Amino acid sequence: MARLQRLLLSAALVVLVCAVDRNNFKTCDQSSFCRRHRAVRPGESPYVVLGSTLSITDEGVFGDLLNEKTRVFFTLELYPLKDATLRIKINEKNPIKQRFEEPYALVGGSQTEQFEVVDRSEEGFTLKFGSSHAVVKAKPLKIDVYSGDTLVVSANARGLLKFEHYRNKLEGEPQAPEGEEEANAVLEDEEDTNGLWEETFKGHTDSKPHGPASVGMDISFVNSKHVYGIPEHADSLSLKETTSTEPYRLYNLDVFEYEVDNPMALYGSVPVMVSHTPKHTSAIFWHNAAETWVDIKKLPDRNVVSSITGFFSGGDSDPPQMSTHWSSESGIIDLFVMLGPRPLDVFRQYGLLTGNTNLPPLFSLGYHQCRWNYNDEEDVRQVNENFDQHDLPMDVLWLDIEHTDGKRYFTWDTHKFSNPLEMTANLTARGRKLVTIIDPHIKRDSNYFFYKENHDRDLFVHTKDGSEFDGWCWPGSSSYLDLTNPEARNHYSDTYMLDRYKGSTLDTFTWNDMNEPSVFNGPEITMQKDNVHPGLGVEHREIHNVYGMLFHQSTYEGQLRRSEGRLRPFILTRAFYAGSQRSAAVWTGDNTADWNHLRISEPMLLAHSVTGITHIGADVGGFFGNPDAYLLTRWYQAAAFQPFMRAHAHLDTKRREPWLFDAETLSIIRNTLRHRYQYLPLWYTLFYENELTGAPPMRPLWVEFPEDETSFDVDYEHLVGSALLVRPVVTEGSNTASVYFPPGVWYDVIDLTKYTGPSSTTVSAPRDKIPVYQRGGSIIPRKDRVRRASSLMREDPYTLVVALDAQDKAQGTLYIDDEHTFDYRQGKFLYMGLSYEKGVLTSHRLDPSGIYETGSWLERVIIIGLDKRPAKVTLNSASQGTQVLESSYENGSSVHAGRLTIRKPGISIKEDFTITIQ
Ligand code: GLC
Repeated sequence: MARLQRLLLSAALVVLVCAVDRNNFKTCDQSSFCRRHRAVRPGESPYVVLGSTLSITDEGVFGDLLNEKTRVFFTLELYPLKDATLRIKINEKNPIKQRFEEPYALVGGSQTEQFEVVDRSEEGFTLKFGSSHAVVKAKPLKIDVYSGDTLVVSANARGLLKFEHYRNKLEGEPQAPEGEEEANAVLEDEEDTNGLWEETFKGHTDSKPHGPASVGMDISFVNSKHVYGIPEHADSLSLKETTSTEPYRLYNLDVFEYEVDNPMALYGSVPVMVSHTPKHTSAIFWHNAAETWVDIKKLPDRNVVSSITGFFSGGDSDPPQMSTHWSSESGIIDLFVMLGPRPLDVFRQYGLLTGNTNLPPLFSLGYHQCRWNYNDEEDVRQVNENFDQHDLPMDVLWLDIEHTDGKRYFTWDTHKFSNPLEMTANLTARGRKLVTIIDPHIKRDSNYFFYKENHDRDLFVHTKDGSEFDGWCWPGSSSYLDLTNPEARNHYSDTYMLDRYKGSTLDTFTWNDMNEPSVFNGPEITMQKDNVHPGLGVEHREIHNVYGMLFHQSTYEGQLRRSEGRLRPFILTRAFYAGSQRSAAVWTGDNTADWNHLRISEPMLLAHSVTGITHIGADVGGFFGNPDAYLLTRWYQAAAFQPFMRAHAHLDTKRREPWLFDAETLSIIRNTLRHRYQYLPLWYTLFYENELTGAPPMRPLWVEFPEDETSFDVDYEHLVGSALLVRPVVTEGSNTASVYFPPGVWYDVIDLTKYTGPSSTTVSAPRDKIPVYQRGGSIIPRKDRVRRASSLMREDPYTLVVALDAQDKAQGTLYIDDEHTFDYRQGKFLYMGLSYEKGVLTSHRLDPSGIYETGSWLERVIIIGLDKRPAKVTLNSASQGTQVLESSYENGSSVHAGRLTIRKPGISIKEDFTITIQ
């Protein structure tokens, strides 16, 4: 039996290895709706607003839209929302079948802003809301959205709106015969009729029972030269023009050995794009979960129709703009325009719609050790011990699919893992956690409890003919949970109860993989679009991009349930959609152990970050292949300053735990991990602030330096919060790195070399060094006594690192709680504001509603950039009165900053205090 399983597995791998290359994924030309939308001619939009139908309610403005060519009517709905956001919806007025509206992503967006409609005429009207307004032009439809007096976003300015209404297929009409008039009188002129009612790709036929139903429109960002976001693509942060390439594609896919620097679809989709200019940041959320393509064009360009004038561009007189063109295979047009005006405003506005990342448990910000697979309990025991023996901090050990009984999730291979409870207890005794993998394909085996239960209750996805869908994945023949069915979700969540998931404990967390969903023998390695989800009664095509999120959200619910809502869940997911941040961390899937994949991890993680997916990382070392010691150390260094840090490797790779390398490599990795753990208080504080405000912990430079144009297309640097500038070394053989320093003062965190920006400098970066700089003007909390897991550092003392700016000032925050429960939402936390000005460091409770009893105290204060030795340092607090503190000072030079180290202030970190330097 075991042999048969191995054979099946290798058969699956062979299928995967051979089947998946660029040719096995559609190009726009091979996707009929993408082709039809790309063919729409600008400047000829047939859609007009019928002024006489306008109605205004408390919620917004509603009217009819007519396609003058097809004489089909649509509805236009405008909802002015709180916090400078406008929602624009276009739907069919009298559809023969109700069109699907994605119901899972939004958690907000229903709070109406006060508004009024002015300047109403035949030509259109103006909708004023807050300090923003939208000018709606009737013929053809065009919506210009202004922030204050500045035109920021323009919808259908180029006239590319195309909304394919549902129609009845005429008898015997597989396709409209070429050259003949379309009998249904509904097609646009010269429409490409290939693939309207049926589409075949690589031997898979999509039966398309409802015919063409796609929607598309152009959206221009006026005055913009840079747009970002729409993950997931292995591409630059500032998105590229697609005029001579494929469009960016959003369709969750399991892409084997994905290529870098291209717009192909990957595992997740967030249809959110952010535009940034020195004056203005804005964003759009194209709320649609079906397959989506996005074209990007930089204007002005004499050959295209201007989005401002509606005519061929006069050239230089037009403002620069990024004209984007979106199309989705089905659903409706549901567009949110967020008007900023600053980057942090846009993150807050988007967070109001789809939620923010919940504060993760601290252990999840520590280091994770994974591989496919840790073979058995003995292997786990040894790895666990080796981390201690080699003095390497580690928080979580991971088990991949081989730990199960034949890829039956929620079970154990009882030969290799006969006593999972004891194994877990061994980990938790050292302060560590366990993660096990649970995928959404369920082995079709009536002796497998989870299959049987779901099968008996008809909780799986159906084929178009109504039978239970049978697809091929890791276990071989598998059925897929119909996650649109609340009963299926509920039942799946319940399976995390400790009495159902035998061998799991409250310290077992979850890895959700293959949830695009991956179907090895399906079209493009995923599920047939004409499969049916009986829960909602919709075709798979409608919900494809949100399937993965439904899975990890239900996992989150399961973990909540098993602790009765007390403990924070932790889940890692490969597939994601807008809103995934509410319940899971995300990783960038199956990367490769080469320098290009290390390089691309930076812009990839930044693209996720600016679209709400903030707890993110890439497999350290690269999943496929064997990294050499140099690549591996550089990868550890990069990941130590990225939000989620997990080493992972393919089954066929050589073991690569750090102690298997030479002494120098091991020592570099040890120091790198220690660095990670020292800065955990900073990461944790940033994730708390992320939950409150939507601000991502990992930031592109322009988020903090919105006026600094040089920073707009920096791909290989990022900021941790506003305080650390990180420049991973991502090229082979490099012992230097060219660093762009944005405006201000920057201090190398190791040797205190001082840099002043804006400037670009080549810095020395030998093997053991990752260029990281603390921003002058910031205060960073650290814990410098690194232990073998973060939970063992809970009560450890803090070091505050104060880096002075040119005005000798600095600021920061520090957040503390119990690191793993939801008690912080009941006020059990401390949120301290830290500031330094005129020689006085102050710590005070920023949010007085939070109280938390901690044993942690202040061990050390380091002040960087102080240019002379002070005569006296005194501490002042309610409990300790005034005390003189011991300190030492190292002189600075023209190159290095001076440093004052204040030893043992000894005050409890929860107390307000001041330290005065005279
Ligand atoms: C997928 C995952 C990978 C995992 C493997 C086996 O390829 O992306 O991380 O190790 O499946 O579960």
